[in-house]
Amino acid sequence: MFITFEGPEGSGKTTQIRLLAEWLQNQGRSVVTTREPGGTRIGNGVRALLLDISHTEMTPRTETLLFNAARAQIVHEVIRPALEAGQVVLCDRFFDSTLAYQGYGYGQDRAELGRIIRYATGGLTPDLTIYLDVQPEVGLARKQAGSTQEWNRLDARAVAFHKAVQKGYEELIRAEPARWSVVDGDLPAQAVHGAVVALVASRLSVGVDLWIAEVLR
Ligand code: TMP
Repeated sequence: MFITFEGPEGSGKTTQIRLLAEWLQNQGRSVVTTREPGGTRIGNGVRALLLDISHTEMTPRTETLLFNAARAQIVHEVIRPALEAGQVVLCDRFFDSTLAYQGYGYGQDRAELGRIIRYATGGLTPDLTIYLDVQPEVGLARKQAGSTQEWNRLDARAVAFHKAVQKGYEELIRAEPARWSVVDGDLPAQAVHGAVVALVASRLSVGVDLWIAEVLR
């Protein structure tokens, strides 16, 4: 099963992926966690190019191609092999980020982006995409306040850009409601985790009763 997490900066994806991975492992599942851009040696090199705060001259087209170059590598090297081995893959961002950021954020043609994404992924689509819903200003403030997180070139874009990204996510969710689930990212981390587990348990048919037993333990 392939599960992706999406949301604005500072929405808590990293924490939730860690908690979900622990929960799945406790259920006896074999789990692979990864992130975009990154997750491979080549992808990490591309990530450094993309996020470097001094790369102010990078055009949206270059950005799109770099994100998708890293994506082609992670799909080939990490995600497909894990899925073929029957593992659960949790990925921090996937192609929906390209549609939201490069598409809705920069106004690049979404049909063209769709073709580039298809080329990079070979058509691989998540089984479930969890959107952690927080207002962009709240997420950015969280991220800026956090001492452990990087403040990168993409975070530094104007609030209007991040608002356009948020609107983009809302449209993507409306267009494919069966794949997406929205969780209130303003809740405390454990409450978000509970909601995430309920969603994943029902998809895995683990039985929500197992989860309830664990929460009540
Ligand atoms: P992260 O902060 O969640 O690791 O993501 C890195 C940044 O890259 C974040 O600002 C979102 C952005 N991004 C895109 O603009 N397009 C993409 O396709 C991906 C995967 C990320």
